[in-house]
Amino acid sequence: MTAAPSEPFRALTGMRDVLPPEAGRRRALLAQFAAAAGRAGYAEVAVPVLEELGVFERLGEATDVVSKEMYHFTDQDGTELALRPELTAGVVRAFVQHAPTLPWKVWVAGTAFRRERPQRGRYRMFDQVGVEVLGVDDPDLDVEVVALAWQVLADVGLRDVTLLVNSLGDHEDRARYTEAVRSYFEEVRGRLSEGEQDTLDRNPLRLLDAKRPELAPVIARAPELSAYRSDESASHYERVLTGLRAVGVPYTEAPRLVRGLDYYRRTTFELTSGAIDAAQNALGGGGRYDRLAEELGGRPTDGIGFALGVDRVLLALEAEGVEGDTDPGLDAFVVDLTGGEAARDLTHELRAAGLAADRRFGGGSMRSQMKHADRSGAAVALIVGEDELQSGEVTLRPLRGHGADGVEQHRVRRKALVAELRALQAPAPRPGDGEH
Ligand code: HAM
Repeated sequence: MTAAPSEPFRALTGMRDVLPPEAGRRRALLAQFAAAAGRAGYAEVAVPVLEELGVFERLGEATDVVSKEMYHFTDQDGTELALRPELTAGVVRAFVQHAPTLPWKVWVAGTAFRRERPQRGRYRMFDQVGVEVLGVDDPDLDVEVVALAWQVLADVGLRDVTLLVNSLGDHEDRARYTEAVRSYFEEVRGRLSEGEQDTLDRNPLRLLDAKRPELAPVIARAPELSAYRSDESASHYERVLTGLRAVGVPYTEAPRLVRGLDYYRRTTFELTSGAIDAAQNALGGGGRYDRLAEELGGRPTDGIGFALGVDRVLLALEAEGVEGDTDPGLDAFVVDLTGGEAARDLTHELRAAGLAADRRFGGGSMRSQMKHADRSGAAVALIVGEDELQSGEVTLRPLRGHGADGVEQHRVRRKALVAELRALQAPAPRPGDGEH
């Protein structure tokens, strides 16, 4: 047997444990996302966390995500594998593999891994939710996808969100623009840090995204993409902007928004929060990737999608002071003063009837059990003493501030208990209800 460690194990750097109540908020967010995607006609897919390395190399070998941040290893049989750094490549790989009927509108939620330098809002393991659509080349779809991302953030209660939109043009436009940006920065190479020079060699467009304040004036004078867009991609972009205005989604054009993955063409967008630290303020982003299916071995197929960073959306909600949905609390906490069998049976009975009930194990005095009942957040305590046991009743005691205010303590027959607790769950009538 391996000896116990001298220090207790801790989660790896950049890998977070998500505990209550955050875990509940995260689940509520997923449910809101799933509902919004469902209303727009998207069906859920799930794809593996682990894929062949080659699947992710298509994200762009020059990108940081692939070249520096990917967790990869050689499997026992010699296959090169990688933990997914995002969800799109896996979804498109699945699309190519299963050849579903077009268009394919799916949503996906899951964990991704990037070996980044961890800080608040930037982790090595994080959750994304997103959508992907394959097989539609229509700018109105871009509008649908962008509007959905916007709507989800509005639905969860965020107000301080900016939508940045750009079009990278088609493949050729982007290549010409990349060359223009490369030669522009070559002329000022001397003013670039070592890391920035390395970016210039590998992926010049990423320099437009450099965060060092000294570089801001240089970036401000860099060539703009609009001069390099073909007529066709310019009119696609115009149609997207017109559509966003028509459906009432406010946007800001960001002519230097390039995004961190290489597969983007034409529409690209990002949603940023004004409430969290600027370095991690991207709540989500996405765009068109019209060649990914082909690069993964399929037929040329248009694609577009987005991903929201769940961890960051939760941070922004907290920063904006939005309460958000949490798990509904317990309906009842059973306080058993007769040895525990009543608590065992009663909690089982209530749960089977669809109510949320808990109890304390190991007994204890009335006072100590009531303390646990209070802390549990349950609406009521159900007290079973010898007396109640004899008469086939329980004492229902409302717990202050947990949803049963205004109810007096009273005895309830066991047979009537489920109905009574259900009645407590129903929202109290508001003044004016029932008047005509
Ligand atoms: P991305 O911009 O790389 O795009 O990531 C989307 C979102 O994931 C980011 O805006 C951010 O909120 C979150 N995120 C990224 N890295 C981290 C991290 N290290 N820690 C915490 N959150 C993070 C994509 O991943 C594309 N697959 C989006 C897409 C879908 N494009 C087309 N379809």
